[in-house]
Amino acid sequence: MIRVAVAGAAGRMGEAVCAAVTGAEDMQLTGRADPRLGVALADVLGGADVVVDFTQPDSALANALACVQAGVHAVVGTTGFDPAPLREARTSDGREPANVLIAPNFAIGAVLMMRFAAEAARHMAKAEIIELHHDAKIDAPSGTAALTAARMAEASGHPAPPIHSVRLPGLVAHQEVILGDLGQTLTIRHDSLSRESFMPGVLLAVRRVPTLTESPVVGLEQLLFEAP
Ligand SMILES: NC(=O)c1ccc[n+]([C@@H]2O[C@H](COP(=O)([O-])OP(=O)(O)OC[C@H]3O[C@@H](n4cnc5c(N)ncnc54)[C@H](O)[C@@H]3O)[C@@H](O)[C@H]2O)c1
Repeated sequence: MIRVAVAGAAGRMGEAVCAAVTGAEDMQLTGRADPRLGVALADVLGGADVVVDFTQPDSALANALACVQAGVHAVVGTTGFDPAPLREARTSDGREPANVLIAPNFAIGAVLMMRFAAEAARHMAKAEIIELHHDAKIDAPSGTAALTAARMAEASGHPAPPIHSVRLPGLVAHQEVILGDLGQTLTIRHDSLSRESFMPGVLLAVRRVPTLTESPVVGLEQLLFEAP
């Protein structure tokens, strides 16, 4: 059994992750950390093999560093923070080395959208990205849009496409990549219609994070596709 603790357990995503972990036959939910539950991350690290973090941009880095120092693997879904300091993160003496996997989007369809957008960017003149989310989302542009733009720029050699952010009640997480060229456009669109869309990707990451050969790894695609 993989022992899993959730940081941000009282949040929208955290509650969905707790339910998904509880429903997974090979996992055991060992801790629910959240200031709203009066439980700190430090209180749940002792009993966990993996921590799943869906918190806030100003908490995620410190949480991931604390996990690595404690020898606990971290799967981070929180967006809007700079993960660069994690490259230097080390496990405290005497603990098993721990890995971090960060994914701005755990929905398999969104990962495919990013891949198809990068491929299309090689062949079409210009592109723009529209990302649409519920109005409680703190960061803009979304981590998914930023990663899509970076992947399109890498693939095409063009500047990163502009990103437009929409925040409205009723939305969950949606993105459109529109590419244009002489007399034609191509639109690639992904919609997360509920938070369940992220759970197969989160569970895959929990199962795979202990065996990563480098850390941090950014993007679920690193687990889904072989290196090009
Ligand atoms: N990667 C993905 O696929 C994906 C999908 C959806 C949302 N997100 C991101 O996940 C994050 C959470 O989104 P949400 O909608 O669940 O937010 P939310 O506000 O509903 O939940 C966040 C929770 O984190 C708790 N929290 C804050 N600081 C904490 C800390 N230091 N330790 C433990 N808990 C702490 C808060 O009390 C809150 O309950 C956001 O950054 C969002 O952009 C990522």
